[in-house]
Amino acid sequence: MTEIFDAIKRSAVRIREAIETDDTGYSQNKNKTGDIQLKLDIKSDLIIEEELSKVPSVKEIASEEREHSEVLNENGIYSIGYDPLDGSSLVDVDLSVGSIFGIYKGGYAGENLIAAAYVVYGPRVELVIATDIVELYRMDPEHNFHFIQPVSLNEKGNIKSPGATQKYWPEFHKKMVDEIFQEGYRLRYSGGMVPDLHQILLKGGGVFSYPGTTDKPKGKLRMVFEVFPFAYIFEKAGGLAMDPIKRLLDLKPSHLHDTTPCFFGSKYEVLKAKEVYGKYQCDID
Ligand code: AHG
Ligand code: MN
Ligand code: MN
Repeated sequence: MTEIFDAIKRSAVRIREAIETDDTGYSQNKNKTGDIQLKLDIKSDLIIEEELSKVPSVKEIASEEREHSEVLNENGIYSIGYDPLDGSSLVDVDLSVGSIFGIYKGGYAGENLIAAAYVVYGPRVELVIATDIVELYRMDPEHNFHFIQPVSLNEKGNIKSPGATQKYWPEFHKKMVDEIFQEGYRLRYSGGMVPDLHQILLKGGGVFSYPGTTDKPKGKLRMVFEVFPFAYIFEKAGGLAMDPIKRLLDLKPSHLHDTTPCFFGSKYEVLKAKEVYGKYQCDID
């Protein structure tokens, strides 16, 4: 798998350069979810495809920015699901963005993930890789990545990142968020799940939520490209990732681009969300 992580590092170097120098405008195309793609979304997607094509163990790829999965090497064994540039609409206001990768063996289901990684393009470029352990790396000026520290969550944190349009939050979700803030949690929400989750992971805990809403009952975030990789990382770091009744990694998408409500965090907060949702016997499907 080292070859895959090396390809991710090479992609990160090239995407970072594109973010710094390329046009931040929109293209003429829409992706499968209906988002108008930025030129940077398309370019990042092609960079990752190019780098992963060089890795013989990669059988196929699936990306947020393309409708179908694509076979790269018939004899490969891994399927990579990725979001090439998450939060791309934040590039023109110079906020942090990221790339997310799930490494699957045997198809794009949560239970088939065997590793996950993400890159944060912030003031510095950082990479987090989760296998059985979770580790943080940082890029130096020569574009080499250095190990910094292991990553693990405390039982409880003090940050809350509540996603989605509040007007469309169900009542019980509002109640859950209020309860958490009443306990003294501080709001941290940039609109990019990569830096928002990175902050929770590195500050030891907290909770990020992107619920099902009255306008989008299945939420916004995609299982294969965004949710499963982060669910894997949070669990391996000692936290939880739920919808918030079921474990996210037990979900099986019917389609590549399926979305799900999701809660990532340390144990205390995710179990609290589960408790509040359970009380209201929430089923907004
Ligand atoms: P993408 O740019 O890949 O479409 O995804 C952006 C995602 C995620 O990073 C973020 O947490 C969420 O969209 C923000 O959505 P809201 O503005 O609806 O909260
Ligand atoms: Mn995304
Ligand atoms: Mn994206």
